[in-house]
Amino acid sequence: MPSPIGKAFRENMLFHWYKRIAAPVEYFWWRLRGSPGPKPPHLVKQRVIQQYAREFGLPVLIETGTNHAHMVYVQKDHFREIFTIELDPWRAGSARRKFAGRPNIHVLEGDSGEVLPKLLQAIKEPCLFWLDGHDFDISTPVKKELAALFQHPVKDHVVLIDDAQYFDGRSQYPTLEQLREQIARDYPGHIMEVKDDIIRIHKPKP
Ligand SMILES: C[S@@+](CC[C@H](N)C(=O)[O-])C[C@H]1O[C@@H](n2cnc3c(N)ncnc32)[C@H](O)[C@@H]1O
Repeated sequence: MPSPIGKAFRENMLFHWYKRIAAPVEYFWWRLRGSPGPKPPHLVKQRVIQQYAREFGLPVLIETGTNHAHMVYVQKDHFREIFTIELDPWRAGSARRKFAGRPNIHVLEGDSGEVLPKLLQAIKEPCLFWLDGHDFDISTPVKKELAALFQHPVKDHVVLIDDAQYFDGRSQYPTLEQLREQIARDYPGHIMEVKDDIIRIHKPKP
């Protein structure tokens, strides 16, 4: 948990301006070093989300794990509507305050393993999912999230999952092979690819 000064900084829009300026520097430094794994910079993730939204024509972003809402901040003008789910009450409250003037951004507080299945009941169109709500490699609701997604009547969602490096069977994570088998069994017609630490699940590209 950040110090009071760190908290105040993350509450402020200055935090996002700073991250925006730092992102290309971080990106070019990473490229200069030969794009080392396993963790690519945030800018790569931001661009992957925008690329899939464009390619599949998806106007709604659903994120699990808001954190300090920087992904919401950078995507806010790229989507018609954004839903983001955060377990930590302070982070959820902070995100709500930041986007209070934007009725198309919805911050939901709670465990996304519980909240996402409820949200899905109201979803009637294909969406882009950014599954990133976890406590590092210690705990993750990803199995519950995916079970709900794979049962959803809309079958044209694109599901991006961050931190593929953790999917080796540790703690609550399945292995990539288990996930591949689950998709073949429970989500037929979808392919799974892994690149830049992001698992990508979707129908063949249009
Ligand atoms: C890696 S950060 C998310 C980063 C953010 N999505 C981004 O792209 O910049 C993970 C966040 O997930 C939250 N989290 C952890 N477990 C969660 C759960 N079960 N449900 C929802 N959020 C959770 C943590 O509090 C933390 O803020």
